[in-house]
Amino acid sequence: MKEAIEQILAELDALKCSSEKEVEEARIHFLGKKGSVTRLFEEFRTVAPEMKREFGQKLNLLKKQATERIESLKESVGTTAGAAASGDDLTMPADPMELGSRHPVSIVRQEIVDIFRKVGYDVAEGPEVEDDWHVFEALNFPPDHPARDMQDTFFVSAGHPNPLLLRTHTSSVQVRMMETLPLPIRVICPGRVFRNEAISARAHCIFHQVEGLYIDKGVTFADLKQAILMFAREMFGADTQIRMRPSYFPFTEPSSEVDVSCNICKGKGCNICKGTGWLEIMGCGMVDPNVLRASGIDPTVYSGFAFGMGVERIAMLKWQVNDLRHYFENDMRFLGEFATAPEV
Ligand code: DAH
Repeated sequence: MKEAIEQILAELDALKCSSEKEVEEARIHFLGKKGSVTRLFEEFRTVAPEMKREFGQKLNLLKKQATERIESLKESVGTTAGAAASGDDLTMPADPMELGSRHPVSIVRQEIVDIFRKVGYDVAEGPEVEDDWHVFEALNFPPDHPARDMQDTFFVSAGHPNPLLLRTHTSSVQVRMMETLPLPIRVICPGRVFRNEAISARAHCIFHQVEGLYIDKGVTFADLKQAILMFAREMFGADTQIRMRPSYFPFTEPSSEVDVSCNICKGKGCNICKGTGWLEIMGCGMVDPNVLRASGIDPTVYSGFAFGMGVERIAMLKWQVNDLRHYFENDMRFLGEFATAPEV
């Protein structure tokens, strides 16, 4: 009986059917009234009592396997026959999987980082949940500066002498680098920042910045100007002009805002540059001596410059998409537009 069971199992294994009729024939062959499996059940009566338990289990298992095998064959000839009847060509290759594309903000962030990496900047990152020291205090924000107001900052733990908050700018990373890196320092710090702002075409409560910092002996404003000119021409084209307007930031002295010549109207004036021929791209300046001192750097020996820009702002200028909300709504039709943007 043992051999008979094994032989039937082998037959089931090798069984092939290409039509429903063949499956039915196979069913009768194994499980019909005179089928080989059914016959074994009859033979079972003659098995010695001490062997009954073992063979009983084996036979039940065989019947189960035979039934399952026939069922699965029935299903597979059913679908093939169905497909053939419907005229589907089963040898046709499947539709290719749709490939995603990089997010426009990631493309631009990477482009900015690569431009500075080429001239020797290292990439540095810091925490998004920061303390007041790194976001404000060490950057020379007087205690009553409006940027500390609850209006702009999301606090995680208020009422503490050094409260935790979501960083409002990536300038906090320059403080962390000044505290930890050996001099000279040359870093580029991309990251996500948070501000308590109503969402509109021009503002969002979450966006991205890239901060740059260079500290060494004898760094001057001329070095800053050259670094920014290099960046502007790499980013917006070799004929781009820059213009620096005096400004104020607590952490730089002197401070400046930087405009680039409008790459759409070439300076003639259009609706993107609001007729001025210039587009604002970043803030910058020479690191304030108070900021160097707060991180333990001697301002009588070292000097440096810093700059900071919004990644979405650069993306808006690059692609003339002037509603910030598009970048965050995850509309595949919009995101797919950038699949063909130059690879960076
Ligand atoms: N942190 C500024 C902001 O969020 C941008 C900025 C301006 C960064 C001037 C700088 C700088 O490093 O020197 O608006």
